[in-house]
Amino acid sequence: MTAAAIHIRPYQPTDYVAIKELTVTAFAGVTLEQNVEQALGGPLHGHDWQWRKARHVDEDVATNAAGIFVADDDGKVVGYISTAIDRAAGKGRIPNLAVAAELRGRGLGRLLIEHALAYFRAEGLSYAVIETMAQNAIGQQLYTSCGFVEVARQVHFAQRL
Ligand SMILES: CC(C)(COP(=O)(O)OP(=O)(O)OC[C@H]1O[C@@H](n2cnc3c(N)ncnc32)[C@H](O)[C@@H]1OP(=O)(O)O)[C@@H](O)C(=O)NCCC(=O)NCCS
Repeated sequence: MTAAAIHIRPYQPTDYVAIKELTVTAFAGVTLEQNVEQALGGPLHGHDWQWRKARHVDEDVATNAAGIFVADDDGKVVGYISTAIDRAAGKGRIPNLAVAAELRGRGLGRLLIEHALAYFRAEGLSYAVIETMAQNAIGQQLYTSCGFVEVARQVHFAQRL
């Protein structure tokens, strides 16, 4: 199975469950939600980080379902990228990107980013932003390799109430 056999297509509502499952497995070790849980001890408010991270898919669908693109391997969802558009500012944002662990390192993540950037250009936007955790070495390598330049580092804090 090669990345070349996989095609990227628009999200369909029938992808919802698969994308949520992929999100929860793919983001282990590289999500703020898990960092918060590890720092404060979980579960928080009766929910684990997987529950909170999976809800990002709901946000992505509500924000711009037409801007979610799925990597489809013969009917199986093996990756996806989500987008948000601020038309007035001319800004495209990529909130989430994931590729199934067994298919990583074959250029699929790059293909999804290029697809999102082409979508932004077709929508007439002027610039694109994406963020990653400092602990996510692959994200940082991939984004700069795809033409993004680092513009800021943010520090997150949390406390139990
Ligand atoms: C980030 C992710 C989508 C990349 O998917 P992918 O299909 O493996 O991506 P690609 O094969 O196109 O590229 C991977 C890049 O990471 C690099 N890479 C691989 N392992 C690495 C490591 N340990 N450290 C640094 N870079 C690494 C590869 O060299 C490649 O960069 P290049 O294209 O400049 O050579 C995938 O790793 C993933 O789903 N991770 C978990 C979720 C996540 O981190 N999402 C993004 C959060 S912002």
